[in-house]
Amino acid sequence: MMEKVVLVGAADMAMICHFYLTHDSPYEVAAFTVDRDFIKEETLCGLPVAPFEEIENIYPPDDYGMLVAISFSRANRTRADKYFQAKAKGYELISYISSKAVTWPDLVVGDNTLICEGSVVNPFVRIGNNVVIAGGFVGHHSVIEDHCFLAANSVVLGRATIEPYSVIGANATVLDHVVIARECIIGAGATVNRSTKEKAVYVDTPAELLAKSSNALNTLITWPRGEAARAGSLTKEE
Ligand SMILES: CC(C)(COP(=O)(O)OP(=O)(O)OC[C@H]1O[C@@H](n2cnc3c(N)ncnc32)[C@H](O)[C@@H]1OP(=O)(O)O)[C@@H](O)C(=O)NCCC(=O)NCCS
Repeated sequence: MMEKVVLVGAADMAMICHFYLTHDSPYEVAAFTVDRDFIKEETLCGLPVAPFEEIENIYPPDDYGMLVAISFSRANRTRADKYFQAKAKGYELISYISSKAVTWPDLVVGDNTLICEGSVVNPFVRIGNNVVIAGGFVGHHSVIEDHCFLAANSVVLGRATIEPYSVIGANATVLDHVVIARECIIGAGATVNRSTKEKAVYVDTPAELLAKSSNALNTLITWPRGEAARAGSLTKEE
């Protein structure tokens, strides 16, 4: 196992991965790398930001591993592009499973995969390459295929399949046995109870604006609210 790694990316996801690897893994981050045109600062987290075009000359794949630390932009395409480019340069891509995630020894995980803190992965789950599970639940016998992103608190129930490049938004729920076809985006908070069409976007009803101000809500009435409400003596502040 290669212990020194280069992170691809220099945005929030790369900083978070640097933190994870530094505090919760055997790996040491040596540098960040992005395409030359995207280099804004020469250093990040006290480490060099090197051009991706020539990274193999500075941090050779024989000596360094790599982790592509990019979020779900372009429906995971940006992360996938860099994943394939890193492999073509000969890098071994590492995976990270948080010590604060709940997983079982039978778990099958591909390369360049992150399972972040708070994730719960049931037994009999298979997770492909270049997947991010950013704190969600994955039910028993489910399959998460390559290049997917499961956002915080997303729930994928048992025997579901998430096909490649799909994004499951925060707090979204995929019911058991449902197949999310490839390249779908499930918006934050949506519940999907039937298998989906490829490349489709599904959203639920967003929150409604209530026609009163927060000052006018009962929640601002002073304690003991329950007792006062039962006695019918609540007063509203404007
Ligand atoms: C679905 C999503 C990808 C669409 O993003 P977008 O391309 O920027 O789309 P827009 O914000 O322009 O929204 C398009 C329409 O969908 C609606 N919409 C977008 N997201 C929605 C959601 N989660 N729930 C309900 N409606 C939503 C918008 O209100 C808008 O409706 P309108 O055309 O009637 O005004 C995005 O809103 C989303 O849910 N992303 C997931 C975020 C997330 O989970 N991040 C995880 C970080 S770990």
